[in-house]
Amino acid sequence: VDVRVGAPPAEVDLEHHGDVEAIPGLLDFATNVRLPRPPDWLRKRLAGALDDLGRYPSAERARAAVARRHARAPEEVLLSAGGAEAFTVLARGLRPALALCLHPSFTEPELALRRAGHRVERLVLEPPFELDPAAVRDDADLVVLGNPTNPTSVLHRRESIEQLVAPGRTIVVDEAFADCAKGEPESLAGCADLPGLVVVRSLTKTWGLSGLRVGYLLAAPGLVRELERAQPAWPVSTLSLVAIGACLEPAALAEADDWAGRLAPIRDELERSLGRIPGVDVVAGASASFLLLRTRRGAAVRERLRESGIAVRRGDTFPGLDADWTRVAVRDEARNGRLAAALAAALEGVGAD
Ligand SMILES: Cc1ncc(COP(=O)(O)O)c(C=O)c1O
Repeated sequence: VDVRVGAPPAEVDLEHHGDVEAIPGLLDFATNVRLPRPPDWLRKRLAGALDDLGRYPSAERARAAVARRHARAPEEVLLSAGGAEAFTVLARGLRPALALCLHPSFTEPELALRRAGHRVERLVLEPPFELDPAAVRDDADLVVLGNPTNPTSVLHRRESIEQLVAPGRTIVVDEAFADCAKGEPESLAGCADLPGLVVVRSLTKTWGLSGLRVGYLLAAPGLVRELERAQPAWPVSTLSLVAIGACLEPAALAEADDWAGRLAPIRDELERSLGRIPGVDVVAGASASFLLLRTRRGAAVRERLRESGIAVRRGDTFPGLDADWTRVAVRDEARNGRLAAALAAALEGVGAD
């Protein structure tokens, strides 16, 4: 027995998340949640459901709402307590001989697979972090990637992902940030005919719902039935089910899509203004609500930013990145301006070496 299976490699803290860097009182560029709390209309819907908490949750309506949203059958939908639970359920329910996690990327899928005792290897993409399907080893019967990817903000073409399909292989695409791109042009969520495809979605980021735990996955009915067996009874709370129904109604989808349309020019402007600062390289072509950048003396730069009241996300807990990489969220123009000014000052402050 290889006792190392199940333990993450020591060199990277896969359990680190940006929320611990968003220290209260600092301007938060560290986390990627769009709203600090759910919008009023959603809070009202949640509050209105409190009287229902005396009954056990019934998932069927929410499941049907997800199916309608993605033009899938209800049998292809598994609701989960956030994308994070979906990864745990997949790790418990699948039996891969070799799981390949593409990096740099969100670390929970790899962690869940290791904890379930699976053999995990990494495919580390180099800048500009684009997927080359030919680089994916043939013997991987499970491939996990994010689209768009956290932390690189790169949106892979759906044709590239489709090329990963192979007999006996499961492909898990984490689309937690898919709705950052207006119209979701590269989403595979509606794709029922791609063998082995699993798409994981989350409501956390768009609707300020990190604390509620709400997400789902889309997969073939047989796999969904198997994965259900890896879940506890009533895995998704009544309030989460209400949130799913509400956030997938046409008005909410239109609100999210409008936001994605407004996000793009603000993000591109931030990309340009950060890129103009001497000593800052921004990963080009960002498609999500954050940017990945590289500077000299990254840890010292982040320390200076903290001193000037700004929290950003360290890059070095993502496999493949070192301490000089930093992820920043895209906020409104005024706050983005503060970030750019503070970053320029921090770089001057840490000197040239
Ligand atoms: C890329 C990505 N996927 C999934 C998740 C999980 O989100 P949740 O479990 O809140 O739905 C996160 C959270 O940080 C994320 O960054």
